Amino acid sequence: TRQTGYTALDYGFVNTAATRSAVTYIDGDQGVLRYRGYPIDQIATNSTYLEVAWLLIYGELPTADQLGEFDERIRRHTLVHEDLKRIFSALPHTAHPMSVLSSAVSALSTYYESETDPNNPEFVELNTIRMLAKLPVIAAYAHKKSIGQAFLYPDNNLGFVDNFLKLNFGVMSEPYEVDPVMSRALERLLILHEDHEQNASTSTVRLVGSTGANQFSSISAGINALYGPLHGGANEAVLEMLGRIRDSGEGVQRFVERVKNKEDGVKLMGFGHRVYKNYDPRAKLVKESADEVLQALGVSDPLLDLAKELEEIALNDDYFRERRLYPNVDFYTGVIYKAMGFPTRMFTVLFAIGRLPGWLAHWREASQDPQAKIGRPQQLYVGAGERNYPGVS
Ligand code: SDX
Repeated sequence: TRQTGYTALDYGFVNTAATRSAVTYIDGDQGVLRYRGYPIDQIATNSTYLEVAWLLIYGELPTADQLGEFDERIRRHTLVHEDLKRIFSALPHTAHPMSVLSSAVSALSTYYESETDPNNPEFVELNTIRMLAKLPVIAAYAHKKSIGQAFLYPDNNLGFVDNFLKLNFGVMSEPYEVDPVMSRALERLLILHEDHEQNASTSTVRLVGSTGANQFSSISAGINALYGPLHGGANEAVLEMLGRIRDSGEGVQRFVERVKNKEDGVKLMGFGHRVYKNYDPRAKLVKESADEVLQALGVSDPLLDLAKELEEIALNDDYFRERRLYPNVDFYTGVIYKAMGFPTRMFTVLFAIGRLPGWLAHWREASQDPQAKIGRPQQLYVGAGERNYPGVS
């Protein structure tokens, strides 16, 4: 607190003028999440990634014909320009896939510069399709690069999720059979990430889009915001945290004490939320499917038991209860991604693919709405009052 009496909270990114949106509704106290009015549990159980993408972007569920044409158009745009692939070889093999992803997406706009005018509805539709079609391909290339394997070409005979799985886990030298359990589990996880109101990365996409920047540049900015460990990077940080607890032998209780004592700024990653002061409904759905998915994949992972033990202890501890800290969407997702075979550093890339439709929907609200204004969060000035330069009276 400074002599002005303002607290640290005032230095947060507090946009006092609430930003209107019709895409997603959250009640943080009740743990409610609805996509365009539909409850998240009904959507995650019954829908598909592309059907939800259409719902978020256009506001209503698509007809069967609309969804069929949407799917077909996306399949026809999965190819990435051969020159763009050279970006991947220019980056170090140790590069984090999130840095690779944001670089490649930003470069994507250079291939379509004559078709990015946000005031041209045809270009807006075309670039939405291009973004949905090419992000999973670029993400798979980032994965292949990180493990030193050759890139595969998209298989347009496969649906969105199956094509993505084949691009990541297929190899040139042998046929790849998509595991239906893995496919359905990944589809459900992607749906759970598709939107979440005005979180940090979505607010970034809105702010950049409100300046008239195109979808590729705005999405690249959102990817960079998501990368942070307090946001999308948390799913990767949770696995690292669980691994450290296991490897150090310090035990869960001792770790929790360190968190409560704020030793070295340690946090219980995957816990807490800016909005949810109750159990994140997505975390509940992910936890429910974790056992089922790992069992169906024939994987048993002690880290899942460790996560459950950690949750049990935290939920019964006054320190977390008083601060209304509950598991968020990132707490259990990493264990499932790991069981699927994704390296830990790909977890936030998976989050980005999930969040893409929400980002595109919010980009439209911020740039297509005639009432939209350029984003400029209100500031609360708490700095020095007027004063003269030394020697100037
Ligand atoms: C996502 O916004 C979204 O919707 C995001 C997201 C989405 O779908 O887009 O839901 C995805 O980003 C989920 C959050 C993933 N991040 C993590 O899991 C990282 C760990 N969580 C924290 O860093 C934290 O909880 C935040 C950043 C998520 C939220 O922080 P808040 O609400 O600003 O809480 P705070 O910083 O005001 O903390 C209040 C108190 C503090 O203690 P005191 O100073 O009162 O003693 O709670 C403590 C904090 O130290 N606290 C934690 C904690 N989170 C808050 N203590 C230990 N572990 C934690 N995780």
